[in-house]
Amino acid sequence: MRKEEAVRLDVRPNAAALGAEVKGVDLRALDEATFQAVHRAWVDHLVLLFRGQTLSDDDLIAFSRRFGDLDWAPVQETGRRFVDGKPEIYVVSNVIEKGEPIGSLGAGEAVWHTDMSYIEDPPKASMLYALEIPPSGGNTGFVNMYAAYDALPAALKQRVEGLVLKHDGTYNSGGYVRQGITATDDPVTSPGAVHPLVCTHPESRRRVLYLGRRRNGYILGLPLAESEKLLDELWSYATRDEFTWHHQWRVGDLVMWDNRCTMHRRDPFDSSARRVMHRTQIKGEARPAA
Ligand code: SIN
Repeated sequence: MRKEEAVRLDVRPNAAALGAEVKGVDLRALDEATFQAVHRAWVDHLVLLFRGQTLSDDDLIAFSRRFGDLDWAPVQETGRRFVDGKPEIYVVSNVIEKGEPIGSLGAGEAVWHTDMSYIEDPPKASMLYALEIPPSGGNTGFVNMYAAYDALPAALKQRVEGLVLKHDGTYNSGGYVRQGITATDDPVTSPGAVHPLVCTHPESRRRVLYLGRRRNGYILGLPLAESEKLLDELWSYATRDEFTWHHQWRVGDLVMWDNRCTMHRRDPFDSSARRVMHRTQIKGEARPAA
């Protein structure tokens, strides 16, 4: 057990490149000193797991708000919003009720990505709370993008310094076309936001590889073939097993991640099983910057 700050916070780092479980806290009732210790642990460990929580949507929103203002969730693939009166809640689910999906991302694989890096001001954090989980599958993996950057050979670090990447806004991580967007597989013309390939984390001040998602990524100013080759090379570092941690969910788990220095993905699961997760996103205070 490691003591964080002056508060007795029980933080147990995973035997992996990132992530820790915080034990013995009820996220509905954190005093300010404990909250500060949780914040410190999140910056240090990148992903935090809190098991055994009992959170209503209002509780989830209230805990998330302690980290900053919240984004409104992106609209569902069908164009609907998720929870009436609570635009901050994004529902990740394969469940169909009365012929309509209640959430997004289905039951297939969600590929490695950073949440909403296709906008100018991506969220700094996301929180995912498990309400219903399938008997198997649907695990969520996280990767440490500080470690990915540190692993690049010196010549590659030099090569990517100063380059900027367009993060595609056409497809979500489940492969669905975003609401109101015309499908395209041309990385040069697809819509999206441009961010430095290597950023400095605004709180830790550490350098981080910032890739967003692979599909339709494009490094500005390079011929497409050269951009593709360089991105493939960078992605081969970013998704190495030794930089990852995979979480097997239980009902009542709340996982929060630092969206500025991690990517995540989800395993597919049996589409006849139910998986229901509620997510919030905390606005970034600073744009991704070199
Ligand atoms: C997400 O990409 O935010 C959802 C991950 C998951 O369903 O586990």
